[in-house]
Amino acid sequence: MELTAQDVLNKYRELYPGEPMVVRSPGRINLIGEHTDYNDGFVMPAAIDRETVFAIAESLDGKSEIYSIKYNEYYTVDMNNPKPAASPTWVNYLLGVLRQFVDKGYTVKPFRCVFGGNIPMGAGLSSSASVECGFAFALNALNHHSIDKKELIRIAQWSEHNFVGVKCGIMDQFASMMGSENHVILLDCRSLEYRYSPLELKDFTIVLCDSKVKHSLVDSEYNTRRNECEQGVAILKKHYPAINSLRDVTEDMVRKHKDELKGKVFDRCLYVVQEIARVQQASKDLEKHDLQAFGKKMFETHEGLSKLYEVSCPELDFLVEQATKFSGVMGARVMGGGFGGCTINLVKKDEVGSFLSAVRPAYAEKFGIALETYIVNIKDGTSLTSKSIEKINLL
Ligand code: GLA
Repeated sequence: MELTAQDVLNKYRELYPGEPMVVRSPGRINLIGEHTDYNDGFVMPAAIDRETVFAIAESLDGKSEIYSIKYNEYYTVDMNNPKPAASPTWVNYLLGVLRQFVDKGYTVKPFRCVFGGNIPMGAGLSSSASVECGFAFALNALNHHSIDKKELIRIAQWSEHNFVGVKCGIMDQFASMMGSENHVILLDCRSLEYRYSPLELKDFTIVLCDSKVKHSLVDSEYNTRRNECEQGVAILKKHYPAINSLRDVTEDMVRKHKDELKGKVFDRCLYVVQEIARVQQASKDLEKHDLQAFGKKMFETHEGLSKLYEVSCPELDFLVEQATKFSGVMGARVMGGGFGGCTINLVKKDEVGSFLSAVRPAYAEKFGIALETYIVNIKDGTSLTSKSIEKINLL
């Protein structure tokens, strides 16, 4: 269902009296820098023109209620003691945010909230971060707190860790909240220093190929990867006491202690240190507008994610392999956590048609799945919609 902000506003008006404020919160892409964020590394994400929209207003009867358009379900919120709900699970993304407001002493007035959006779920476009960030932003605005954006980002991430159960890094929430139209964010996940870089792709465009698969155990596999990286750091720290994360580790250090980095730990660490270095070089490629060099690094990232980090799957490997056959595709790789979702492809604009008309039937023939593709535009991060801004200015 392609919901717009107007649809969400209309739904609110249908269900509740009064005029709500409307907040939009985007999904994200990531050009390069995968599984580096929780290793204190670098990433290069951007917010996109697919978003979750919240219509929210104070309730007058003291009750708080959230309505999900997607699930057509209501949830009555216990404002004093928000706890993870066994069902519906969609509400946990929001309840974790509320829990943080309560724990941090930010008062929250009873509210009515309607939300929905057009970010495909399970596609690796961070629909969950957009929900967490949008709700955190909405509670902040509705209650006239002035929590800064970095704290809202942390609140959103806390919710994912503690109420959803995924020990994610900071990239998705940061990109959703801080995105800037037509810019990528060069983010240092250790210091949270960042800079916007104009994304000037000229004859090229970004095409996402949605494999439409989401293999089970994604969340537990994600947490396992994070744990393997931590094991690697603990072992290397015995030799290099100054290191605190894989950010502080070089490829030479990893290779030198290969025998001690048992099981999968060596491969995981090797991928991460290579990827952290690759992102730094890739940002130089982008500055020089050298898309060929940039695209080559995307393919290298895929190779690492597939062979060393093992977060790809046959469907995604196939899509990337198909992309290598086209001279008009500069780079392609699995994007986000992996195990399904999208590949991100850097494609020459006038070859998008021929690329897709070859990949679609090939994918359907091999896996019996209709490939979905998205061409995305880069937009601003979480914000009030213009109508809400007008309303606040008038108050
Ligand atoms: C998911 C997580 C992010 C990041 C990516 C992989 O999207 O939420 O924090 O780790 O996977 O780069």
